[in-house]
Parts: sequence; C-alpha cells; structure tokens
Amino acid sequence: MQSAAELSPPIRVPIALGTRSYDIVIGSGLLSRPEQWPDRPAASTAVIVTNPTVARFHAEALATSLRQKHRRCLVVELPDGEAHKTWEAINIIVTRMLEEACDRKSVIYALGGGVVGDTAGFAAACYMRGVPYVQVPTTLLAQVDSSVGGKTAINHPLGKNMVGVFYQPVAVLCDLATLRTLPEREYRSGVAEIIKYGPIADEAFFVWLEANIDALMARDDRALAHAVKRSCEIKADVVSRDERESDVRAILNFGHTFGHAIEGHAGYGVWLHGEAVAAGMALAAALSVKLGMMPAVFEGRLRRLIQRAGLPTRPPVMPWSAWEGWMRVDKKAEAGAIRYVLIDSPGHAVMRAVDVQVVRSVIEAPGSDSLSVSLSQSLSAPV
Ligand code: NAD
Ligand code: GLY
Repeated sequence: MQSAAELSPPIRVPIALGTRSYDIVIGSGLLSRPEQWPDRPAASTAVIVTNPTVARFHAEALATSLRQKHRRCLVVELPDGEAHKTWEAINIIVTRMLEEACDRKSVIYALGGGVVGDTAGFAAACYMRGVPYVQVPTTLLAQVDSSVGGKTAINHPLGKNMVGVFYQPVAVLCDLATLRTLPEREYRSGVAEIIKYGPIADEAFFVWLEANIDALMARDDRALAHAVKRSCEIKADVVSRDERESDVRAILNFGHTFGHAIEGHAGYGVWLHGEAVAAGMALAAALSVKLGMMPAVFEGRLRRLIQRAGLPTRPPVMPWSAWEGWMRVDKKAEAGAIRYVLIDSPGHAVMRAVDVQVVRSVIEAPGSDSLSVSLSQSLSAPV
C-alpha cells in the first residue's frame, strides 16, 4: 500500500465506457502538478466552478496550473450548500459563461464537493448542448463517489436530485491533500460512502475497514489512499457495467432510499448526505435480516463499523406518512412500488420491492440496542 506522500506518480483508476472512458487520478498535491494530470481538452478558456468556502483554500492552486495550458481561466463561485443545488446555480454558471463569450470548447473544472460537482456537471451538459468538464473533488464523499460515474443533478422541492442527466467528465482529479482543510463532520460523512462499498461489493474491503477504521478516521495517509483507491475501483467497475443504472448500478444506492427520505424530511443540509446514508444503511441491513436474506451477525458488524466512524445508526423521528411520501419519489421506484437495495450475503447486494408493512415495522422498531446511535449522539461522541 502506498502512502499519499508516496503517490508519485499518482494512482490511475480507469473507467471503461467506450468513447466516454476516462481516468480517475489519485495523488497528493495534484492541483499544483498539472504534468501528472491526464491529457486535457485543448480549449482557450477554463472555467473553474466552485464556492467561496473551497475557493479560499484551493482555487488559486488550480487556477495557476490551468493558466499554463489555457489562454484564460475564469472562476465562478456558487453559494455554498445543498440548498443551492438549484436552477438558480445553473443560471449563474451559464450566464457568466455567456457574458464572457465562452465557446463550446470551453472546459469546466468542478472544484468542490458533491454539490458543486453535480451542479457544474449538469451545467456542462447543458451549456451549448455540452462542453467537457473535469471533476476536481475536494470532499471525501466526492472523491469516493459523486465525482465518478457521470451522474449530474439539481434538487427539486419535491425530491432530491430529481432533475439531471448522465454526463461523464473527461477526467477526475482526486487530490488527497485538499482533504486536510475539510471539517471533521464532512469527513465522517464521506466515510459512510466508503463503508457502503464493503457490504454491496467486497467483503474483503469490509474486513479491511474493520481493521483500519481508526486510522482512516485519523486521516492517516496510507489508510486514506487505500480507501479512496478501492472505493473508486469498485465504483468504476459497477459504472462500467451499467452506466445508466438500468440494473446493477442501483446497488450503489444501498441505504439511499431511506437516506434521501431523511434528508428531504429534515430539510436539505440538516442531516448531511453521508449521515443520512449511514442511518439508511443500518435500516437496509435490518430489513435484509428481517427478510431472512442476511445473517444478523453481519448486521451487527456493519452497525458497529458505522458507529466507530462516528456516524448515526438511527433515523430521526419521522411520521410514517413522511417516509412513504419521500420514498415514493425515489428514482428506483417502478409503477409505484418502492424498491430497496438489500444484502443477501456480505459483499453482494440485490434490488427488491418489499411489502410496505415490513418496511414500516423495521423503521418503527425501537432502536434500543447498544449499537443504535442517533445523529445528536454521533455529533457529540468522540471518535
Ligand atoms: P458538499 O458539496 O456540500 O460539501 C460539504 C461542505 O464542505 C461544503 O460546505 C463545502 O463548501 C465544503 N468543502 C468542500 N471541500 C472542502 C475542503 N477541501 N475544505 C473545506 N471545506 C470544503 O457535500 P458533499 O458531501 O461533498 O456532497 C453531497 C452531495 O453529493 C449531495 O448533493 C449528494 O446528492 C451528491 N451526491 C452525488 C452523487 C453522484 O453520483 N453524482 C453521489 C453521492 C452524492
Ligand atoms: N452514487 C450512486 C451512483 O453514482 O450511482
């Protein structure tokens, strides 16, 4: 295993999608080392889309590198936060690019977390019917999940990520050094998406996480580099097999049907995405056990791992009508039937429609065991 400091040359994880194939490059200090990036599209204008929080720490390093290749480099700042993943943000990007007479060869660099990446990717797909874009993820969640695979979207008041397109980036640049400025709560939220990959695709990675979770939470270079690499490899493999989620890609949504309901009900940004996914994974695991698909002992191990990452295993108190309302607009629903990602053996997931009363009984089961942790407990618990 290489340490982040030793990632020279950086790790490359290919994602095979025919003419839309690209590399995920993982390294430390990448923003300032353009010679380590994949070949970039020839364009006179580079447009960095970011937000003020990220720009303060990382925009200058990226802009300095981009000026070596492009005649001009614009920086467009969006307001920070999930609440701004809206049409208004798309308008800000598109309007600025039109005002600056950006042509259709302009390339967008999405510098930030999943909110910036999803929004800038959607804008790239729309501007003049599509310009290339590069994902430059600066949160752990974005490095291991949202920057990879070409899902772009904005939110609608009636549902999260309800308006968007599949549109692949031309490269993903994961600079592990950018994570040093990431707040602790955001870092933990990203660990939820890392944990997800074990139950759905790789039991050995789950075992590795059980052994290395403390190092990962301490942001140890070696643990972090391995976790990001393995997560990207698993996601790249799944996306290569099912780019548009007609089948296997849906397993990447383990915990998300419950998680999206939690986020929507609480109000976007109150529960972070990864926190909601963590509680959602605990519920999906309990549902898998209830249906006789997964051994209870694995559910206990998963809950323990989530808890050790300082993440919640219990959802907020929500009326059943709210759960049902939010889950019905889940994109995996078909003909009104809500479908769930369930674990049938450690490292293997399946999709199933489940009787609503069974789902309700799992949600409403008292979380009294010692491994149930609420968001408020997880926020105050030392990790
Ligand atoms: P985020 O983008 O809101 O970033 C979290 C916070 O961290 C923000 O305040 C941001 O400004 C700040 N930040 C980012 N990088 C920083 C850094 N290096 N230093 C300091 N602060 C930094 O949240 P997120 O968790 O990255 O992404 C969540 C979003 O991703 C959700 O909208 C979710 O729907 C989406 N998502 C998309 C996919 C996909 O496949 N497209 C997958 C998973 C999640
Ligand atoms: N985050 C789920 C997916 O990319 O499909």
